[in-house]
Amino acid sequence: MDKIIIQGGVPLKGEITISGAKNAALPLMAATLLTDAPLTLKNVPNLVDIRTLASLLEQHGTNIVRNISGQELILTTSSITSTTAPYELVRKMRASVLVLGALLARCGEAIVSLPGGCAIGTRPVDLHLKGLETMGAVIELENGYINARAPNGLQGAVIHFPYVSVGATENLLMAATLANGETTLTNAAKEPEVVDLAQCLKAMGANIEGIGTDRLVIQGVKSLQGATYSVLPDRIEAGTYMIAAAITGGDVLLKNCNSKQLETFIDALRKANVQVEEGDNSIRVACDLNLLKGVDVMTEPYPSFPTDLQAQLMALMTLASGASMITETIFENRFMHVPELCRMGANVTIHKSSALVRGTRQLIGAPVMATDLRASSSLVLAGLAAKGETTIHRVYHLDRGYEQLEQKLSNCGAIIRRAKEDEELAA
Ligand code: EPZ
Repeated sequence: MDKIIIQGGVPLKGEITISGAKNAALPLMAATLLTDAPLTLKNVPNLVDIRTLASLLEQHGTNIVRNISGQELILTTSSITSTTAPYELVRKMRASVLVLGALLARCGEAIVSLPGGCAIGTRPVDLHLKGLETMGAVIELENGYINARAPNGLQGAVIHFPYVSVGATENLLMAATLANGETTLTNAAKEPEVVDLAQCLKAMGANIEGIGTDRLVIQGVKSLQGATYSVLPDRIEAGTYMIAAAITGGDVLLKNCNSKQLETFIDALRKANVQVEEGDNSIRVACDLNLLKGVDVMTEPYPSFPTDLQAQLMALMTLASGASMITETIFENRFMHVPELCRMGANVTIHKSSALVRGTRQLIGAPVMATDLRASSSLVLAGLAAKGETTIHRVYHLDRGYEQLEQKLSNCGAIIRRAKEDEELAA
């Protein structure tokens, strides 16, 4: 196991190219299960989560060819050789549940391990299951597995989500493409990653209206064909590096990113006095830390402030003048970074779903660890700004979602390196 060691205090200067979005690539890969023709995905990031899903798809019968640069995957599922998604693979990554809708739609059955809880919340999948039941599936929970059957195929239905779920929208969207008749999804997620999936499914021959809105209408078709599709840039990776520029008082140009998908986040940064210049396919961020001031944000479904950037913004707010109130409404336990930031000198107190951050002038380097991906990235950001050395343990969280993190940051002057973990800290 590895750790990351940062000598903080260097203002970042330079350019960073943003990778393809992990959370778009995962459902796009699962879409291979809907067709026997090749699905070619470009701009796929080379990440642990992508490899985990690739292993799962391979055991369902998918043949995967990765080109030399590693950014193109050709997925061909000529036939499904197993409709079971085993616990050993699903427990590594919750997004594995995305194979459920596609397997059920294509094969009339799917046996998928229940993902279980995770560090940021209980994260049930009841909306996925209720939606599939409304489409005629018979679902039983047995020995920790979702046992779903639809021997006569799924039937089109009207499904209203009581609250917005990215994964449930994606699962039901995939299932509906091959269902008999029309499916309407209301209060559907509008996240850019959902839009990316819908557009790829359209390119595969699916009939979907309302893409980008909270009402998706899908006319089921008999079969889907192959397609070539490029994964959208990772807005969360872009947001993370925007904060890296700001928190070090640096000046960084991000390339291959879409500022339109980060509007609420950019608004918050501008209110905090961070300079953000939006280009066609780029974003430039600069910051004078003496002018940085606290802002209040609340996480909500897209297009509001993303939960996946909450921890990173908090790292920045620890250095702002004044106070900021950061409220998390998506996940019930997504403040795991707070005690670690406090060990670096931050002043943060939690009141239920809100964190009150009182700015301090300086963070101090410390050994830290986090229990999820975005919390870990907030500690990297804090480490870049802190005086002295910060060691981030449990780097495997970062490897799930940030491609070439150390290289991208060191290209902009950060003093950051990876080292092998001592045995007792890795445990
Ligand atoms: C996706 O998770 C992302 N993961 C998450 O990114 C992201 O934080 C989240 O959407 C919200 O934007 C992927 O795309 C792979 P949800 P997902 O279903 O689909 C509750 C990261 O760091 N809920 O929109 O699992 C749920 O518990 C990750 O990259 C139910 O109660 O999120 C949560 O409170 C972490 N029942 C809320 O809804 C359900 O059946 C939103 O979850 C489904 C969800």
